[in-house]
Amino acid sequence: MTKQPVVQLENISKVIGNKTIIDQLSFELYPGEVVGFLGPNGAGKTTTIRMIVGLMAPTSGKILIEGIDIDQEFEKAIRHVGAIVENPELYKYMSGYNNLVHYARMVDGVTDERIEEVIELVGLQNRIEQKVKTYSLGMRQRLGLAQALLHKPRLLILDEPTNGLDPAGIREFRDYLRYVADQEGVCVLVSSHLLSEIELMCDRTLIIQSGKLIGEKQIQVKQEKSQGQKIVRFEVSPVDKAVSLLSSTYQAVSDGFEVEMGREAVAALVQKLVAENIQIYAIETRVKSLEDEFLEITGGKSVD
Ligand SMILES: Nc1ncnc2c1ncn2[C@@H]1O[C@H](COP(=O)(O)OP(=O)(O)OP(=O)(O)O)[C@@H](O)[C@H]1O
Ligand SMILES: [Mg+2]
Repeated sequence: MTKQPVVQLENISKVIGNKTIIDQLSFELYPGEVVGFLGPNGAGKTTTIRMIVGLMAPTSGKILIEGIDIDQEFEKAIRHVGAIVENPELYKYMSGYNNLVHYARMVDGVTDERIEEVIELVGLQNRIEQKVKTYSLGMRQRLGLAQALLHKPRLLILDEPTNGLDPAGIREFRDYLRYVADQEGVCVLVSSHLLSEIELMCDRTLIIQSGKLIGEKQIQVKQEKSQGQKIVRFEVSPVDKAVSLLSSTYQAVSDGFEVEMGREAVAALVQKLVAENIQIYAIETRVKSLEDEFLEITGGKSVD
């Protein structure tokens, strides 16, 4: 990509007391991409986000937003950022519309047209005159999203935005995020510890553990995935004889093994097993999920 990054983190570290919470973290995010920020509890996601939005200063390293160093020109840099860290701050007894008007007064240059525009972006036209206390959690999240977008940020940061949403709510919110990224060319960074959710929502994922970037993953579209490598689970007997025939690495599972292989290799292996008189009770295939890769990268370890 040759576009100028929206955000650049250069060797960011955060030390609190004698504990290094963030350790030499570097990454870049680009316009129009929805990026997942994935890591187990305590990995340092919220800490990183707090530094990007200026709620906390890094111990060392540099953060640039639209090429502007937030340490040198804070106001100018932070103008490009919209964020929902924890829950959106909303007044329950005010209408959705008045919440937006109230918020718009606190930031420069938000026009009435822009208010209408963000309402439409998050699909709240029909309910915007009603009080926020009558909103579902999903609608509140969308109103929070509208609020964070009012000043046309180049970067939108959401820390665990789908916490508490049901699967339908997650899907709906995800569709709105994607739409916003496409429509406004905004770069969206979404943190989560839910792999499945990130996989569905994002173009790319940054994986952190113990404050370090330990992986980066481009998420392909579903069709591409289904033509790629698959994980195939074989239920066989005797298992040890079967695995001795394998040329690639395998994962032992109950009553069999799992291997990552393409279509042709499956046929070849079945022939081999049959020729060796090994009983095959079941063959199941599944597409390799982000979870598999996440566990491969992190070695299945948790922190803290
Ligand atoms: N103010 C603080 N003082 C001391 N330690 C802190 C402070 N803030 C965070 N930590 C520690 O830094 C580590 C990273 O915390 P952080 O909240 O960034 O993780 P996270 O990835 O957001 O986790 P979660 O998924 O649980 O939200 C944790 O070990 C946490 O205990
Ligand atoms: Mg957190």
